[in-house]
Amino acid sequence: MFGAVIEIIRTFPIRTPRLYLRQFVMTDAAKAYDNWMSDDDVTEFLTWETHSSKEESERVIGIWIRSYELGTMDWCITLRKDHEPIGSITAVQDFPDEKYCEIGYCLAKEYWGKGYMTEAVKAVTEFIFRNTDYRWIQARCDSENYGSRRCLEKCNYKLIADIDLPCAKRREEVRTYHVLKIDRTDIARL
Ligand SMILES: CC(C)(COP(=O)(O)OP(=O)(O)OC[C@H]1O[C@@H](n2cnc3c(N)ncnc32)[C@H](O)[C@@H]1OP(=O)(O)O)[C@@H](O)C(=O)NCCC(=O)NCCS
Repeated sequence: MFGAVIEIIRTFPIRTPRLYLRQFVMTDAAKAYDNWMSDDDVTEFLTWETHSSKEESERVIGIWIRSYELGTMDWCITLRKDHEPIGSITAVQDFPDEKYCEIGYCLAKEYWGKGYMTEAVKAVTEFIFRNTDYRWIQARCDSENYGSRRCLEKCNYKLIADIDLPCAKRREEVRTYHVLKIDRTDIARL
């Protein structure tokens, strides 16, 4: 029918030993705000500013939810033991024609250092390679974001470049970013 939206859902649920990754729903907004979106320590190396109200988190999550039908990959990370939303992992840049994407992620501070993001990145990496024909997945992190780099290395991502870019959040200060990448052929080693 003319004008009909063709839904291409790509954010399917993913289970790991401790985590359940699923689509965001509007009722996640309050927890997302309290748990990570309102925390300056979480956003320090991210491109977006810390949220200053629950409404801001609702607005952003609303956009993500409406975008699912376009084929975005945008998971809410929850704990299997109590269903608590603790972070997000997303294909922040997605290039189906060029057969690769870039992932980004963040986790509530209370849950850092327990291996959760390593578990999530491995699961999403496997999911993308199994459900797309992508040749590689990449990720970018500030060179001072040691935890993020280490997490990627534990997931078998390899450093391929360092790039200097102005950071809009820091008054265009030039920062060095690591670009890490995993090829489809490396999936067996995950
Ligand atoms: C980066 C982040 C996702 C890591 O998540 P996490 O669940 O704590 O990571 P994991 O526990 O799976 O693994 C992190 C690894 O890095 C290490 N690490 C963490 N912080 C570190 C630091 N400041 N210096 C050196 N290593 C560090 C951990 O020890 C662990 O390695 P190990 O298992 O060899 O000890 C989390 O800290 C976060 O959400 N930060 C804020 C948002 C962010 O920066 N996102 C990434 C943007 S590129």
